[in-house]
Amino acid sequence: MNILGISAFYHDSAAALVREGEIVAAAQEERFTRRKHDHRFPQCALDYCLEVGGITPAHLDHVAFYDKPLLKFERLLETYLAFAPLGFRSFVQAMPLWLREKLHLPRRMDQGLRHQYEGRYVFTEHHESHAASAFFPSPFNEAAILTLDGVGEWATASYGVGRGNRINVTHELHFPHSLGLLYTAFTYYCGFKPNSGEYKLMGLAPYGEPVYRDVILDKIVDLKPDGSLRMDMSYFNYCQGLTMTSQKLHDLFGGPPRSPEGSLSQRHMDIAASVQAVTEEVMLRAARHLHTETGMKNLCLAGGVALNCVGNGRILREGPFENIWIQPAAGDAGGALGAALFVWYQLLGNRRQAGPSDSQQASLLGPAYPADTTRQMLDRIGAKYHRFDNEDTLVQRIVEAIDSEQVVGHMAGRMEFGPRALGSRSIIGDARSPSMQSVMNLKIKFRESFRPFAPCVMREHVSEYFEMRPNEDSPYMLLVAPVRQDKRIPLDGDKTTGLDKLKRIRSVVPAITHVDYSARVQTVDPKRHPRMYRIMSAFHERTGCPVIINTSFNVRGEPIVCSPEHAYRCFMGTNMDVLVIDDFLLYKREQPDAKQHDIDEYLAQFQLD
Ligand SMILES: [Fe+2]
Repeated sequence: MNILGISAFYHDSAAALVREGEIVAAAQEERFTRRKHDHRFPQCALDYCLEVGGITPAHLDHVAFYDKPLLKFERLLETYLAFAPLGFRSFVQAMPLWLREKLHLPRRMDQGLRHQYEGRYVFTEHHESHAASAFFPSPFNEAAILTLDGVGEWATASYGVGRGNRINVTHELHFPHSLGLLYTAFTYYCGFKPNSGEYKLMGLAPYGEPVYRDVILDKIVDLKPDGSLRMDMSYFNYCQGLTMTSQKLHDLFGGPPRSPEGSLSQRHMDIAASVQAVTEEVMLRAARHLHTETGMKNLCLAGGVALNCVGNGRILREGPFENIWIQPAAGDAGGALGAALFVWYQLLGNRRQAGPSDSQQASLLGPAYPADTTRQMLDRIGAKYHRFDNEDTLVQRIVEAIDSEQVVGHMAGRMEFGPRALGSRSIIGDARSPSMQSVMNLKIKFRESFRPFAPCVMREHVSEYFEMRPNEDSPYMLLVAPVRQDKRIPLDGDKTTGLDKLKRIRSVVPAITHVDYSARVQTVDPKRHPRMYRIMSAFHERTGCPVIINTSFNVRGEPIVCSPEHAYRCFMGTNMDVLVIDDFLLYKREQPDAKQHDIDEYLAQFQLD
């Protein structure tokens, strides 16, 4: 039985194929179309899923869409009416897409499936899709489920329990009160793109102090002990306007929103720290309440806020749950997977036996490319490459490069599903190098200097470097943990503030140690990520260090690379030294010189995010 799940028309459109309960394929549309957070109908992702499954749309037994468009439309209308005549402009702006595509979804899906699918469509609720994506692939037979995001139909957060093959979402928080939208509003206020720059706000927070935390909690957010919240909507504009925040909020925080690419002041850093502190407080309260209500020892998380890995790390360390599992595609892309799994388990009642490992398959659910395709592409463009039959030799070359502070683009096997690169589409480098953080930000990724880099660590060494339990799993890079005291370099009496904090060497792995000594950790084990594990073992053997930098293979504003061609273009368009595509290795110094105008053209196609 083949079930296709689709999410589309908000942000991060995606498709997923589930066969007999197994996840066969899942991918975000942006990777194929090269338009970041692409929200259009995921035609390429859908075609890719069917191709991997070796089927045509006629072979599909069920097709599920991740939310209920009519309910969403009702929210739009009711919100508009509640604020009318304010909001006319945003209403008029939203209407064409609704009238053209969203309200005629079955017709749009028929077209996407080339009129070959004859079954009916299932529309799951938005938060049900998130909850399903969090619980069904998890390693737990029973767990509490918490979803937190911007907004679906009406719900902005929900919780419930999962047992065996069923989830039961029992409580919801409704629009306009939303932790996700609160975070997005401050993302906007600090000059970053809504629904995209939330990561930057989280990365900026450690430079500041949470001096506005109490102001937010006194004036803007009425936070209840159970983690639910009510927001004073006079500080916001997203119900009725085209912006996220209102003049009243700007007055409260002492100025208009920061313009994109404008300078970052201590005030912005303090605001980021404050909203991050409030977010962590909400997440912790919700987790504690859920634990009291359900008495369960496992927690599953999804929804965009579940990408707040600082909050996740605190739930794991401080919250009452013994284990947590977070859907790697926690945002709306994961809704496609959740919707398909919901049909298989919940609607069709198929048996589910969890564990001991999750069934997300390392989240390596995207395309892989045969060696012949790669070779033909490299030959066609006249690239100079080395091909290795022996993986050990290739791994040695990679490790030598990293040890000599070269930056390596590494593409191998299937692409990751979800926003994090986990080694299959990653740029890797030496975490011990004090200059690597700025080299990678400014010369490779062309992004803001303040942004931190994340480490991969061999799982058996995780507790030597980070404050985590021995062998603790974090294979999807969704937890932030402090670097251990004995790996830190003391900075007695250090008085640096703001971005100057970047210049201090804080640990034996400075390139991945954020200014508050935290790190977003990915553990690498031989089963899930065999190639990365081999690279890391060889690096550890050579240098004694089991940690390397792992950042996504892209430049600023570019979706993560998908195909060998994308990887090669990114390699040639940046100051990367080495490129690895499966068994092929390329040195920049051996390549024909890239023409400046090709590089400019390459970089110009991506809008700054
Ligand atoms: Fe969502």
